[in-house]
Amino acid sequence: MSTTRPRIFVLGIYAADLVFTGSRMPAPGETVTASNFLRGHGGKGSNQAIAAARAGADVSFFTFIGDDAFGHDAVELWQHEGVRSKAVVIPTQATGAAGIFVDSRTGGNAITVFPGASRLMLPVDVDKVEPDIAESDVFVVQLEQPVDVARRGLELARRHRVTTILNPAPALSLPDDVFPLCDFILPNETEAGLLTGVSVGTFDEAERAARMLLKKGVGNVIITLGEKGALYCGPTQTFLVEPVGMGPCVDTTGAGDGFTAGFAVGLGKGLSLPEALKFAATLAGISVTRHGAAASMPTLTEIEVALK
Ligand code: RIB
Repeated sequence: MSTTRPRIFVLGIYAADLVFTGSRMPAPGETVTASNFLRGHGGKGSNQAIAAARAGADVSFFTFIGDDAFGHDAVELWQHEGVRSKAVVIPTQATGAAGIFVDSRTGGNAITVFPGASRLMLPVDVDKVEPDIAESDVFVVQLEQPVDVARRGLELARRHRVTTILNPAPALSLPDDVFPLCDFILPNETEAGLLTGVSVGTFDEAERAARMLLKKGVGNVIITLGEKGALYCGPTQTFLVEPVGMGPCVDTTGAGDGFTAGFAVGLGKGLSLPEALKFAATLAGISVTRHGAAASMPTLTEIEVALK
């Protein structure tokens, strides 16, 4: 495996995760008693930044936070994880937060996320970190901050020939001009369904959705399919990515973030597509055996041991 340390720029949000675990999710209007509670670190962008740093990358992270307890914790977290923070503090705004229900029987989850200060990000704010984007090998963004901010990041990365990855989560419909800016798009089944109108459950349906995304101008499509693995579809080949089972699944929160980060690191290291996808699946496979989002991300050594 290549030993180079890829430079990855992540744009996204931080959220303090308030995680309730129980034997079932509450129905609307119902109160259920949780069997456990923990406060963890989340936000898809921050999770991806931490996963990439633990997996051996040199990571910069751009976001907005408030001047509050959650924001202070976020800054401490990035320092501890070796993530270069490009965070802007907006004193009048709250830092993001997420309410997460985890089903103890399946490890599945349901999430409500408030982006806090990050919902005020504007495209012009991304312009201020253009030099940092230009210096990276891979640019990664999701959709928890406004879409036009994600688009601006993708445009700047393109301008500097930095490889672009869009993880279109949470599921939102996107303006047509965003797709051609993506070298890689990594939706899950739900997100792929929303972007294409194809209800994605099987590999065949995933391939149909992936081909529609290619037609919209995306360079390469990877649709994650939970415990079934993932489907890669590009201009010249289509193949399945086997899931990597590393033990019982206790919490799937952040698995998509781990997969996205692992793929970005693999690409940045110069691995082949199948190798980068195996690296991503291994990272995600380890993360679901642990509780929490950022907390569940493995180190490079753990990934390398699992790959052997
Ligand atoms: O992808 C998982 C993340 O989504 C959680 O950490 C939560 O904060 C939400 O942003």
